[in-house]
Amino acid sequence: MTAVLECAHLVRTFGDLRAVEDVSLTIAPGETYGLLGPNGAGKTTTISMICGLLAPTAGTVRVLGREITPAASDAKAAIGLVPQDIALYPDLSARENLRFFGRLQGLRGAALEARIDETLDVVGLRDRAKDRIDTYSGGMKRRANIAVGMLHAPTLLVLDEPTVGVDPQSRNSILEAIANLGTAGMAVLYTTHYMEEAERLCDRIGIIDVGRLIAEGTRAELVAGLGSASRVTVRAEGTAPALEAWRAALATLPGVTVSATATGADLACADSTATVAAAFQRAGAHGVAISGVEVAAPDLESVFLHLTGKGLRDE
Ligand SMILES: Nc1ncnc2c1ncn2[C@@H]1O[C@H](COP(=O)(O)OP(=O)(O)OP(=O)(O)O)[C@@H](O)[C@H]1O
Ligand SMILES: [Mg+2]
Repeated sequence: MTAVLECAHLVRTFGDLRAVEDVSLTIAPGETYGLLGPNGAGKTTTISMICGLLAPTAGTVRVLGREITPAASDAKAAIGLVPQDIALYPDLSARENLRFFGRLQGLRGAALEARIDETLDVVGLRDRAKDRIDTYSGGMKRRANIAVGMLHAPTLLVLDEPTVGVDPQSRNSILEAIANLGTAGMAVLYTTHYMEEAERLCDRIGIIDVGRLIAEGTRAELVAGLGSASRVTVRAEGTAPALEAWRAALATLPGVTVSATATGADLACADSTATVAAAFQRAGAHGVAISGVEVAAPDLESVFLHLTGKGLRDE
């Protein structure tokens, strides 16, 4: 089976900055792949190379076996891009926008109208199709943006953080729309810094940090790779040196990995009862006051914390 997307050893530098460093990834037909990473990790730079908008410093991108470069315009027809910023005409309706962009893609007449109806159904905007974009909410504009990206029925749809800055309800409809794409047989590359979105939508997830793909797999594989049964989140108060000393003392416990968080520490461990007891005992010894403890199963946030020593989001 030919992979929809094959990136091999992609590198992109900007002057001295190595924004993307040796990224290789493959997406199968119908697969939804999540590129999960914090601000500045290199997500947009990676997908700009995948979509042929930016030349790689090194490495190759192939879509359906054909190499993508900024000059290779016909191979790019297999890709639909939904950019991070809204790219729609505000004084036109959704249908008029879709007509305009559809014609640019070479669609015409009844085939174009039918495809517009289909995409409006996927993003749940059919009943608002006649309204001008400037009367839409932020979430509706993003859904209209998604409709534009998928209008020409691309084999691979690339979405760059489509839920940033939208309210929870719109976010939910965007996620539902994207889940529909997978079931329609389209391969999807989805970038996000929200681990819940990656967990909910993606068949496979690549974790990217400082330009490098540091882990890849299904959610279950990534969490299993952590090798710990529990995630213990401790909220603690104390002076910075006291907190530092307390975390260092916890890090000496066998089978416990400690990550500093803004509010205390995040511990991956095999035995949560013993770890919670040790956290309290060592807090007393180091002049740290514990104000909350939460025990949960490890998730992608734990994976990220323990691979990078920092959280996905600034808390
Ligand atoms: N055109 C450019 N010139 C110089 N530096 C750039 C350029 N584009 C991106 N960078 C840098 O490359 C790094 C990766 O940026 P990129 O936009 O790919 O990150 P991102 O993961 O998409 O982040 P975000 O979640 O904030 O969108 C950053 O340090 C950024 O400042
Ligand atoms: Mg980005």
